Amino acid sequence: MENLVNHTLKSRSFFTVSLSVILATFATGPGAQSVEAGKPMTLRTVMERLGRDMQVVTGAISKEEWALVAELAPKIAKHAEPPMSEKMRILAWLGVNAGKFRSFDGQVHDAATAMGEAAKRGDGQAVIAAFSKTQQSCLACHQSFRHSFVEQFYGER
Ligand code: HEC
Repeated sequence: MENLVNHTLKSRSFFTVSLSVILATFATGPGAQSVEAGKPMTLRTVMERLGRDMQVVTGAISKEEWALVAELAPKIAKHAEPPMSEKMRILAWLGVNAGKFRSFDGQVHDAATAMGEAAKRGDGQAVIAAFSKTQQSCLACHQSFRHSFVEQFYGER
């Protein structure tokens, strides 16, 4: 229950931006936000960290180091977020797909949280099942959004 509440709060903070703020952004126009073309998005740093943490978890599972999995899982579940200005850009780009994007993030949160709880119980099978669910959620978001994200924010194809 506590996790559910945290998750709801977190999701709110992540991609909920008031309409007035969005309108203000559009009103000032794209030129008003001086964004260097090709400059890495903060989201990429967040993702690199997620990738590393997942790799460390893989190693820890192989060695049955459940304490380490339990330590890393909440960091994956409650990963850092880009600054508000970047969230706004992402949100404006996502448009009607914002809910879908957010729900993939929520799936990662829930699966990684379950992984941490299984690790605390020392339940290796459940850790691996939740790990797999976490990876599937990463993949699902990447398959839906990554290519177009890179195209949009870096102009690559
Ligand atoms: C809500 C959508 C979403 C979820 C969930 C998500 N990612 Fe990503 N991920 C992205 C996007 C968008 C990019 C492209 C970012 C960029 O290139 O700046 C990305 C890129 C990456 C990259 C490549 C970074 C680079 O240097 O190019 C890694 C690694 C990564 N994600 C790992 C993960 C892992 C591990 C998870 C799950 C624990 C995960 N991601 C979950 C959206 C997501």
